[in-house]
Amino acid sequence: MTQDELKQAVARAAIEHVPSGIIGVGTGSTANHFIDELARIKGRIDGAVASSEATAQRLKSHGIPVLDLNAAGELEVYVDGADEITEHLHMIKGGGGALTREKIVAASSKKFVCIADGSKLVGMLGKFPLPVEVIPMAQSYVARELIKLGGQPVLRQGFTTDNGNIILDVHNLQIMNPVELETRINQITGVVTNGLFARRPADILLLGTDEGVKTMKAR
Ligand code: 5RP
Repeated sequence: MTQDELKQAVARAAIEHVPSGIIGVGTGSTANHFIDELARIKGRIDGAVASSEATAQRLKSHGIPVLDLNAAGELEVYVDGADEITEHLHMIKGGGGALTREKIVAASSKKFVCIADGSKLVGMLGKFPLPVEVIPMAQSYVARELIKLGGQPVLRQGFTTDNGNIILDVHNLQIMNPVELETRINQITGVVTNGLFARRPADILLLGTDEGVKTMKAR
Protein backbone atom coordinates (compact mmCIF):
# COMPACT_ATOMS: atom_id res chain seq x y z
CA MET A 1 0.00 0.00 0.00
CA THR A 2 1.16 3.54 -0.65
CA GLN A 3 1.59 6.00 2.20
CA ASP A 4 -1.54 7.79 1.02
CA GLU A 5 -3.55 4.55 1.02
CA LEU A 6 -2.38 3.89 4.59
CA LYS A 7 -3.54 7.38 5.58
CA GLN A 8 -6.90 6.69 3.98
CA ALA A 9 -7.20 3.38 5.84
CA VAL A 10 -6.61 4.95 9.27
CA ALA A 11 -8.97 7.80 8.44
CA ARG A 12 -11.70 5.27 7.68
CA ALA A 13 -10.94 3.34 10.90
CA ALA A 14 -11.24 6.52 12.97
CA ILE A 15 -14.91 6.84 12.05
CA GLU A 16 -15.63 4.10 14.63
CA HIS A 17 -14.41 6.52 17.30
CA VAL A 18 -16.80 9.31 16.30
CA PRO A 19 -19.64 9.76 18.80
CA SER A 20 -22.74 11.88 18.26
CA GLY A 21 -22.39 15.56 19.14
CA ILE A 22 -19.45 17.83 18.31
CA ILE A 23 -15.95 16.58 17.52
CA GLY A 24 -12.55 18.20 17.05
CA VAL A 25 -10.79 17.80 13.71
CA GLY A 26 -7.07 18.14 13.01
CA THR A 27 -5.04 19.42 10.08
CA GLY A 28 -2.96 17.80 7.35
CA SER A 29 -3.27 15.18 4.64
CA THR A 30 -4.35 12.39 7.02
CA ALA A 31 -6.89 14.67 8.68
CA ASN A 32 -8.14 15.61 5.21
CA HIS A 33 -8.88 11.94 4.49
CA PHE A 34 -10.70 11.79 7.82
CA ILE A 35 -12.83 14.81 6.87
CA ASP A 36 -13.75 13.11 3.60
CA GLU A 37 -14.81 9.97 5.53
CA LEU A 38 -16.67 12.10 8.06
CA ALA A 39 -18.73 13.58 5.24
CA ARG A 40 -20.28 10.15 4.65
CA ILE A 41 -21.69 10.04 8.21
CA LYS A 42 -22.20 13.75 8.79
CA GLY A 43 -25.79 13.21 9.92
CA ARG A 44 -24.41 11.50 13.04
CA ILE A 45 -22.67 14.64 14.35
CA ASP A 46 -23.87 18.15 15.21
CA GLY A 47 -20.71 19.71 13.82
CA ALA A 48 -16.96 20.02 14.21
CA VAL A 49 -14.39 22.36 15.73
CA ALA A 50 -11.55 22.96 13.25
CA SER A 51 -7.87 23.21 14.20
CA SER A 52 -7.06 25.45 11.22
CA GLU A 53 -8.61 27.64 8.56
CA ALA A 54 -7.77 24.95 5.94
CA THR A 55 -9.66 22.31 7.92
CA ALA A 56 -12.61 24.66 8.42
CA GLN A 57 -12.77 25.21 4.65
CA ARG A 58 -12.70 21.48 3.91
CA LEU A 59 -15.37 20.71 6.52
CA LYS A 60 -17.60 23.45 5.10
CA SER A 61 -17.08 22.20 1.54
CA HIS A 62 -18.64 18.91 2.67
CA GLY A 63 -21.53 20.70 4.37
CA ILE A 64 -20.30 19.86 7.88
CA PRO A 65 -21.11 22.73 10.30
CA VAL A 66 -17.97 24.36 11.77
CA LEU A 67 -18.45 25.50 15.34
CA ASP A 68 -16.59 27.88 17.61
CA LEU A 69 -14.68 26.12 20.38
CA ASN A 70 -15.87 28.59 23.02
CA ALA A 71 -19.48 27.80 22.16
CA ALA A 72 -18.90 24.06 21.84
CA GLY A 73 -17.42 23.46 25.31
CA GLU A 74 -15.62 20.17 26.07
CA LEU A 75 -15.41 17.84 23.08
CA GLU A 76 -15.78 14.07 23.26
CA VAL A 77 -13.00 13.34 20.80
CA TYR A 78 -10.24 14.97 18.75
CA VAL A 79 -8.92 13.22 15.64
CA ASP A 80 -5.62 14.33 14.08
CA GLY A 81 -2.43 13.11 12.45
CA ALA A 82 1.19 13.46 13.62
CA ASP A 83 4.65 13.96 12.17
CA GLU A 84 6.21 11.54 14.66
CA ILE A 85 4.73 9.42 17.45
CA THR A 86 6.26 7.05 20.01
CA GLU A 87 4.83 3.98 21.73
CA HIS A 88 4.08 6.31 24.68
CA LEU A 89 1.90 8.24 22.21
CA HIS A 90 4.03 11.36 22.64
CA MET A 91 4.06 13.27 19.35
CA ILE A 92 5.72 15.92 17.26
CA LYS A 93 3.08 17.88 15.37
CA GLY A 94 3.00 21.11 13.41
CA GLY A 95 4.44 20.06 10.07
CA GLY A 96 1.46 21.89 8.60
CA GLY A 97 1.96 24.82 10.97
CA ALA A 98 -1.33 24.40 12.84
CA LEU A 99 0.23 23.26 16.14
CA THR A 100 -1.21 25.93 18.42
CA ARG A 101 -4.84 25.51 17.43
CA GLU A 102 -4.31 21.73 17.34
CA LYS A 103 -3.03 21.80 20.91
CA ILE A 104 -5.93 23.96 22.04
CA VAL A 105 -8.56 21.67 20.50
CA ALA A 106 -6.74 18.57 21.82
CA ALA A 107 -6.63 20.07 25.32
CA SER A 108 -10.37 20.70 25.12
CA SER A 109 -11.15 17.09 24.19
CA LYS A 110 -11.75 14.07 26.41
CA LYS A 111 -10.06 11.69 23.96
CA PHE A 112 -7.31 12.21 21.36
CA VAL A 113 -7.31 9.69 18.52
CA CYS A 114 -4.12 9.94 16.47
CA ILE A 115 -4.26 8.62 12.91
CA ALA A 116 -0.94 7.95 11.20
CA ASP A 117 0.72 5.81 8.59
CA GLY A 118 3.40 3.40 9.85
CA SER A 119 6.31 5.67 8.90
CA LYS A 120 5.36 8.05 11.73
CA LEU A 121 6.09 5.58 14.56
CA VAL A 122 9.59 6.26 15.97
CA GLY A 123 11.70 5.09 18.91
CA MET A 124 12.72 8.64 19.86
CA LEU A 125 11.26 11.99 18.80
CA GLY A 126 13.41 14.60 17.09
CA LYS A 127 14.41 13.45 13.61
CA PHE A 128 11.48 15.52 12.33
CA PRO A 129 12.40 19.17 13.06
CA LEU A 130 10.36 20.46 16.00
CA PRO A 131 8.02 23.32 14.98
CA VAL A 132 7.84 26.24 17.40
CA GLU A 133 5.30 29.03 16.86
CA VAL A 134 6.80 32.39 17.81
CA ILE A 135 5.59 36.00 18.03
CA PRO A 136 7.44 37.68 15.11
CA MET A 137 9.36 40.31 17.16
CA ALA A 138 10.79 37.55 19.38
CA GLN A 139 12.31 35.55 16.50
CA SER A 140 16.00 36.26 17.24
CA TYR A 141 15.68 35.99 21.01
CA VAL A 142 13.79 32.70 20.85
CA ALA A 143 16.25 31.33 18.27
CA ARG A 144 19.18 32.06 20.64
CA GLU A 145 17.39 30.32 23.52
CA LEU A 146 16.65 27.28 21.34
CA ILE A 147 20.33 27.04 20.38
CA LYS A 148 21.17 26.95 24.11
CA LEU A 149 18.91 23.87 24.33
CA GLY A 150 21.02 22.16 21.67
CA GLY A 151 18.79 22.73 18.64
CA GLN A 152 19.31 24.48 15.31
CA PRO A 153 16.30 26.69 14.62
CA VAL A 154 15.45 27.48 11.00
CA LEU A 155 12.81 30.03 10.02
CA ARG A 156 10.02 28.47 7.94
CA GLN A 157 10.30 30.73 4.90
CA GLY A 158 7.23 32.49 3.55
CA PHE A 159 4.92 30.98 6.15
CA THR A 160 2.56 32.75 8.57
CA THR A 161 0.36 30.79 10.96
CA ASP A 162 -3.40 31.25 11.20
CA ASN A 163 -2.59 33.31 14.31
CA GLY A 164 -0.29 35.72 12.41
CA ASN A 165 2.97 34.32 13.79
CA ILE A 166 6.15 32.68 12.45
CA ILE A 167 7.43 29.11 12.80
CA LEU A 168 10.96 28.13 13.77
CA ASP A 169 11.69 24.50 12.84
CA VAL A 170 14.26 23.18 15.30
CA HIS A 171 16.66 20.59 13.89
CA ASN A 172 18.96 18.13 15.65
CA LEU A 173 17.15 17.88 18.98
CA GLN A 174 17.55 14.57 20.78
CA ILE A 175 14.32 14.43 22.71
CA MET A 176 14.93 12.05 25.61
CA ASN A 177 12.31 13.64 27.86
CA PRO A 178 9.48 15.09 25.74
CA VAL A 179 7.38 16.26 28.70
CA GLU A 180 10.28 18.27 30.17
CA LEU A 181 11.33 19.75 26.82
CA GLU A 182 7.76 20.72 25.94
CA THR A 183 7.51 22.61 29.22
CA ARG A 184 10.95 24.27 28.89
CA ILE A 185 10.38 25.55 25.36
CA ASN A 186 6.93 26.88 26.24
CA GLN A 187 8.55 28.93 29.04
CA ILE A 188 10.71 30.93 26.60
CA THR A 189 9.22 34.41 26.32
CA GLY A 190 7.81 34.93 22.84
CA VAL A 191 7.00 31.28 22.22
CA VAL A 192 3.31 30.71 21.59
CA THR A 193 3.63 26.95 21.73
CA ASN A 194 5.80 24.12 20.45
CA GLY A 195 4.92 21.00 18.51
CA LEU A 196 5.64 18.51 21.29
CA PHE A 197 2.40 16.88 22.39
CA ALA A 198 3.67 14.99 25.44
CA ARG A 199 1.99 16.63 28.42
CA ARG A 200 -1.27 15.74 26.71
CA PRO A 201 -0.39 12.73 24.54
CA ALA A 202 -2.78 10.83 22.31
CA ASP A 203 -5.03 8.28 24.00
CA ILE A 204 -5.28 5.96 21.02
CA LEU A 205 -3.10 5.53 17.93
CA LEU A 206 -4.56 4.03 14.78
CA LEU A 207 -1.46 3.04 12.83
CA GLY A 208 -1.67 2.14 9.15
CA THR A 209 0.50 -0.83 8.16
CA ASP A 210 0.54 -3.29 5.26
CA GLU A 211 -0.91 -5.85 7.71
CA GLY A 212 -3.87 -3.61 8.49
CA VAL A 213 -4.76 -0.84 10.93
CA LYS A 214 -3.24 -1.47 14.36
CA THR A 215 -4.81 0.08 17.45
CA MET A 216 -2.26 1.10 20.08
CA LYS A 217 -2.68 2.55 23.56
CA ALA A 218 0.06 4.32 25.54
CA ARG A 219 2.60 1.99 27.19
C1 5RP B 1 -0.28 19.82 11.05
C2 5RP B 1 0.05 18.55 11.76
C3 5RP B 1 -0.21 17.27 11.05
O1 5RP B 1 -0.97 16.45 11.87
C4 5RP B 1 1.10 16.61 10.74
O2 5RP B 1 1.92 17.51 10.04
C5 5RP B 1 0.89 15.33 9.92
O3 5RP B 1 0.52 15.67 8.62
P1 5RP B 1 0.13 14.61 7.54
O4 5RP B 1 -1.15 13.95 7.99
O5 5RP B 1 -0.05 15.43 6.28
O6 5RP B 1 1.25 13.61 7.41
O7 5RP B 1 0.50 18.54 12.87
O8 5RP B 1 0.10 20.94 11.79
